[in-house]
Amino acid sequence: MTRVAIEPLLRGSTADEILALRICDPALGEGAFLLAAVAVIVEHLVAAGLPLGEARAGAARCVHGVDVDPRAVAAARAALAVGEDQLQVGDALAIDWPAAFPAVFARGGFDAVIGNPPYVRQEHLAAHKPLLRRFVSYDGAADLYVYFVELAHRLARPGGGSV
Ligand SMILES: C[S@@+](CC[C@H](N)C(=O)[O-])C[C@H]1O[C@@H](n2cnc3c(N)ncnc32)[C@H](O)[C@@H]1O
Repeated sequence: MTRVAIEPLLRGSTADEILALRICDPALGEGAFLLAAVAVIVEHLVAAGLPLGEARAGAARCVHGVDVDPRAVAAARAALAVGEDQLQVGDALAIDWPAAFPAVFARGGFDAVIGNPPYVRQEHLAAHKPLLRRFVSYDGAADLYVYFVELAHRLARPGGGSV
C-alpha cells in the first residue's frame, strides 16, 4: 500500500526532488507504514545515484507523523532514528497541524498521507462527538476512521495523495 501511494511521486524524480518530499502517517503507531515508506524512498534514491548511507539519512527526513500513544511514538522514533520535530505525540484530530509542522505547511502540506487509521465504532465515540462535529464528514453513525480519511485530504497539499 505504501509503495502504491508514494511511487508515483518518486518515479522519474531527481534525488533532490525525492529528498524534498514530505510524507505523513497521522496515526503512526510504531511506524510500520513510515518504515515501509523509508525503504521505498531509499530504493529510489540509490537508483538516482545517492550512496546508500546518504539515501537512508535523507529518506528518514521525509517522514512525519502523530500518534496519541507516547510509547508507540517513542518506538517509532527509535526505529526511524528521527526526533520529535518529525514524530509527535498528540490527537491527530485535535492538534493544530500547521503549528506542529510549520515547515511542511509553509509549502502547502504533505505530498502524501499514508497509514492505517484507528477503527472505533460510533458507540464508543460519545466523549469525542464535540470534536468530531467540526468535520464536514461528521455523521452520528460514522466510525472514527471516517474522520481520519477527511483529515488525510486536509493534510495533503494540492496535488498530493492519500491511501
Ligand atoms: C490501527 S493502529 C495503526 C498504527 C500504524 N499506522 C500501523 O499500521 O502500524 C491505529 C493507531 O491509531 C492511534 N490513534 C488512535 N486515536 C488516535 C488519534 N485521535 N490521534 C492519533 N492517533 C490515534 C493508536 O494509538 C494506534 O497506534
